[in-house]
Amino acid sequence: MSNLIGVFDSGIGGLTLLNELTKKLPQENYAYYADVANVPYSYKTPEEILGYVEKAVLFLRDKGAKMIVLACNTATNVAVEYLRVKYDFPIVAIQPAVKVAADFDDSKRILAAATPITLAATRYKNLVASLGVEDRITNVALPKLVEFAEKGIFKGEEVEAYLQEQISPYNTEEYHYMVLGCTHFTFYEELIEKLFKNLKTVDGNKGTANQVKRILGSEGMLKAEGSGLVTFYESGVLVSDLAKYIKLMLKLRAS
Ligand code: SIN
Repeated sequence: MSNLIGVFDSGIGGLTLLNELTKKLPQENYAYYADVANVPYSYKTPEEILGYVEKAVLFLRDKGAKMIVLACNTATNVAVEYLRVKYDFPIVAIQPAVKVAADFDDSKRILAAATPITLAATRYKNLVASLGVEDRITNVALPKLVEFAEKGIFKGEEVEAYLQEQISPYNTEEYHYMVLGCTHFTFYEELIEKLFKNLKTVDGNKGTANQVKRILGSEGMLKAEGSGLVTFYESGVLVSDLAKYIKLMLKLRAS
C-alpha cells in the first residue's frame, strides 16, 4: 500500500498519537511501527537508538510512507535532526506540550514528565528556553511508566505507588499543568488526575495531529476521500494477531 502515513514509536505509546491522527484524518492509510524488540529506549545508548529509528523510518518509507511521524519523544530527541538532514521526505516529530502549559497562567509552575533522555536533550532544553519558562518548570523522569505500559499494566497498586513516590515530593498545589512528554504516559492521564486532584495533564498528540494535517495540506499530499486502513508492524514484522492493538485503540477511543 502506498500513500500512507508511517507512525513510529518504541512501543505502544505512539498509539495515543495514532488515535488522534485517525480521528483527524480518517481517510488516510497508516502503517504503525512498534519497536517492541528494543523498547524501552531509556536504557539504550544514543547510537543504538539512532540505529533503531533510522531502520524503522526506512522500513516505513519502503512500505510507501509519504510522511513519517515520530511518535516517540525519546527517539525524536536523539534522531530527528539527523534524519531530516539525511532524507528529503517529510518527518513530523512529537514534542512535549510545554507551550500549552506556559500560556495558561504564569503564577503557576509546570511539571514536565518524560524519560531521562528527553529531559536531558538539547532539543527539549531549547524548547523550554524559547518559551522563557526555565524558572517555572520542574522536570520529573518517569521511565518506569513506559515499562508498565508495555506490560499492559495501566492501573493498580504498583503504578499508583510509583506515581506517588515520584510526584508526591513536589507540592502539587503550586502546579496547574503536568506535561506528558512521552506518548506512553497518555495512557495514565486519568490515573494521574485522579491521584493528584489539582494537576491537569496535557500531551502533544492533538498539536502534532494538527501539524500533520497542515503539512500534508500545504504539500498537496492529503488523501481526499475513502476510509483508511491501519497496518501494524512490530520491529519490522507484520502483526497478524491484532487483538492487542485493537484493544488498546478501543481503550483510547473510550477515554
Ligand atoms: C522509551 O522507549 O523508553 C521511550 C518512550 C518515549 O519517549 O516516548
